[in-house]
Amino acid sequence: MIRVNDNFLKLPASYLFSEIARKVEEFKKANPEAPVIRMGIGDVTRPICQAAIAGLRRGVDDEAKEQTFHGYGPEQGYQFLREKIAEIDYRNRGIEMDIDEIFISDGAKSDTGNIGDIFSRDCKVAVTDPVYPVYVDTNVMAGRAGDALPGGGWSNIEYLPCTAENRFVPSLPQGNPDLIYLCYPNNPTGTTLNRQQLGEWVKYAREHGALILFDSAYEAYISEEDVPHSIYEIEGAKECAIEFRSFSKTAGFTGLRLGYTVVPKTLKGFDENGKEVSLNSLWLRRQTTKFNGASYVVQRGAEALYTDEGRRQIDKTVAYYMRNAALLREGLQEAGLEVFGGVNAPYIWIKTPEGVTSWEFFDKLLNECNIVGTPGVGFGPSGEGYFRLTAFGRFEDTLEAVSRLKSLATRTTKKTN
Ligand code: MLT
Repeated sequence: MIRVNDNFLKLPASYLFSEIARKVEEFKKANPEAPVIRMGIGDVTRPICQAAIAGLRRGVDDEAKEQTFHGYGPEQGYQFLREKIAEIDYRNRGIEMDIDEIFISDGAKSDTGNIGDIFSRDCKVAVTDPVYPVYVDTNVMAGRAGDALPGGGWSNIEYLPCTAENRFVPSLPQGNPDLIYLCYPNNPTGTTLNRQQLGEWVKYAREHGALILFDSAYEAYISEEDVPHSIYEIEGAKECAIEFRSFSKTAGFTGLRLGYTVVPKTLKGFDENGKEVSLNSLWLRRQTTKFNGASYVVQRGAEALYTDEGRRQIDKTVAYYMRNAALLREGLQEAGLEVFGGVNAPYIWIKTPEGVTSWEFFDKLLNECNIVGTPGVGFGPSGEGYFRLTAFGRFEDTLEAVSRLKSLATRTTKKTN
């Protein structure tokens, strides 16, 4: 008899985006002609830029020749890419970075999910609410979350509400957590913290001996000056934060898979006897054991993004999605909805109409407009009464979606009058 990890049984039967995909498939089966526009999961639609394609081609050609063939690569990633990251993503912003602090991986989802391996099961966890479900679900799997609460959430996780009332700026924790997950620009709300606000979190973490797990997968979408691209722009953050980055949203690598995690060598944890342990060494040990490195070809593709040409091409793609975001923001506001985000992030966070729950709004939009979004409550209890649309679609589809949403608003107003 094989005993399973009972913690898995505490989880809802399927992951949020799998559940939405299932519902959409059901709808499509019943309505095969419906012109469904998918704005649920934040998956990109623009092709990989030409600079990265040239890098990928070079990688493929290298693999075809005996002299340049690469088998197993370094688990931490190739030096050619880590050097570019250290220089361009960090040193150019005035942040000291050693390439041994950078770990290339197959994406930020895996890393934010796997990082828990190096921490005690007894660590207390805090998350902003709503939250990217991976942070919570992986802590449930690890046995850190306690039990599911009837009103949503988990008994051992501290939830820090982010709602329109506090302008989506979470209060500092009360429960003395060890691990604090922050994602800025935020998924799902599309909102941000400015330098001073993030500074308060760094100060808090240092004063309380907490560790911030900072997901900045959407940093390429920042348009405002006062919003930090990296938590390490804040003094002292290298003593209290791990940072996760992704090429998925920056360069359209959702299918290619590539990201990286920064674990500064200054970060320390403690063993059961109170002896200091380097978190960088633990993560290296974890990765070299459980991961065989990201694909050589894909890392060559990413390297090419760090050229002037690569940068220009990525900026163009980012601008394409942010034009969608602006269109959605304005269109939905004109349709009488209250909207947030969409300025420094490709997500639009909508307040559902009075008395309409997140899932009711999901059904309404799917049935009446054939638009798929994500119910806010799927991201946590404070997401109830909100709904997320992504700006990662095609421009034409975004235009069409806005027009359908406006006409739904007109129909609804006529009915209520
Ligand atoms: C989302 O839609 O929240 C993200 O695309 C999911 C992810 O990055 O894994």
